[in-house]
Amino acid sequence: MIVVPTAAALRFVGAATWAALSHNRVDEDVWTHAQDVPHVRLGQSADLVLVAPATADLLARAAHGQADDLLTNILLTARCPVLFAPAMHTEMWEHPATVDNVAVLRRRGAIVLDPAEGRLTGTDTGPGRLPEPAEIAEFAELLLTRPDALPRDLEGRRVVISAGGTREAVDPVRFLGNASSGRQGYALAAVAAARGAEVVVAAANVELPAPAGVEVRRVVSAIELAEVVEKAAQAADVIVMTAAVADFRPTATAEHKIKKGAAEPTEIPLARNPDILRELVQSRRPGQIIVGFAAETGDETGDVLAHGRVKLQRKGCDLLVVNDVSQGRAFGRSDNAAVILSADAADVTLAHGPKTLLAAAVWDAVSARLSS
Ligand code: CTP
Repeated sequence: MIVVPTAAALRFVGAATWAALSHNRVDEDVWTHAQDVPHVRLGQSADLVLVAPATADLLARAAHGQADDLLTNILLTARCPVLFAPAMHTEMWEHPATVDNVAVLRRRGAIVLDPAEGRLTGTDTGPGRLPEPAEIAEFAELLLTRPDALPRDLEGRRVVISAGGTREAVDPVRFLGNASSGRQGYALAAVAAARGAEVVVAAANVELPAPAGVEVRRVVSAIELAEVVEKAAQAADVIVMTAAVADFRPTATAEHKIKKGAAEPTEIPLARNPDILRELVQSRRPGQIIVGFAAETGDETGDVLAHGRVKLQRKGCDLLVVNDVSQGRAFGRSDNAAVILSADAADVTLAHGPKTLLAAAVWDAVSARLSS
């Protein structure tokens, strides 16, 4: 890894720190070590150029093809993916000059993430915050594995994703829940936003930072999830249900904490929750694409894929992404292996890899359907 700071970046963190952390020489201008022709060589030899944080000034210089320091020279010579992670104040991000510069860079194939929303360097808050470093690192890893993973093919598309796991209250302190972390749903949301979609996530008990450029609506129970997803679905082109939805809920939530007492344990009567995916399929708009996820373990009646095929048919969705979760695989981990099933196309088998890589494959399949 080579760090190429701008002159402004060196006011925040000195060159010695970058050199020590990257174990490489750190130059900022094109004149140092000119015998190595760094202004051309670094860009030509890079597998990925990541600009983080990308300021309004840097985006402007990049959009205009300026080459007044080493970093902007690299941007002109690089033929690998270029990923910008913007950070600036809201006014600067929303200024027509920046909006135009970002559009120009995206049109030329650069990947410009949306900034996150939240506290900025002053007392102000809003869009403009640097996306979470972990999220930037995931995108960088994705692009190093699959340089073509982030086309702008979902521009103008509205996407709704459910993520996490629902909780059904038993009493004020207990619930029936599951182990879903929401990572796969958030990875799908982050990748869809980076591919240009307008993304709403219905997040059931997810303890992860919101992906940059994504609207998160928080819910707890299956009924709340159904309400939020069904409302957002009315305007959606694509719906992806990754949430682990409880099939049953206690018929009533005890008003007070249930005490152990001396008696035998009490039974908890259960009522059936709506099958949200099925209901979405039944009320779908023409052209709307609906994707389900199924975490399966094989059993004596069939293997993981056999269960997946039956579920695809039962639910009636366009695509079903089947994960093998036997022996604690998938839950809470950042990588996954899966098969994308559809009624009318060949299975897509995906090897173990980061959840963003699986997300990119799901969006490829969705995108192919949207354009056919
Ligand atoms: N799902 C849903 N509503 C439910 C249950 C599941 O929308 N009440 C969705 C999930 O979000 C997922 C898909 O359906 O996209 C498959 O979830 P799964 O729990 O595997 O389906 P079930 O119908 O509960 O099947 P099983 O008989 O295996 O429990």
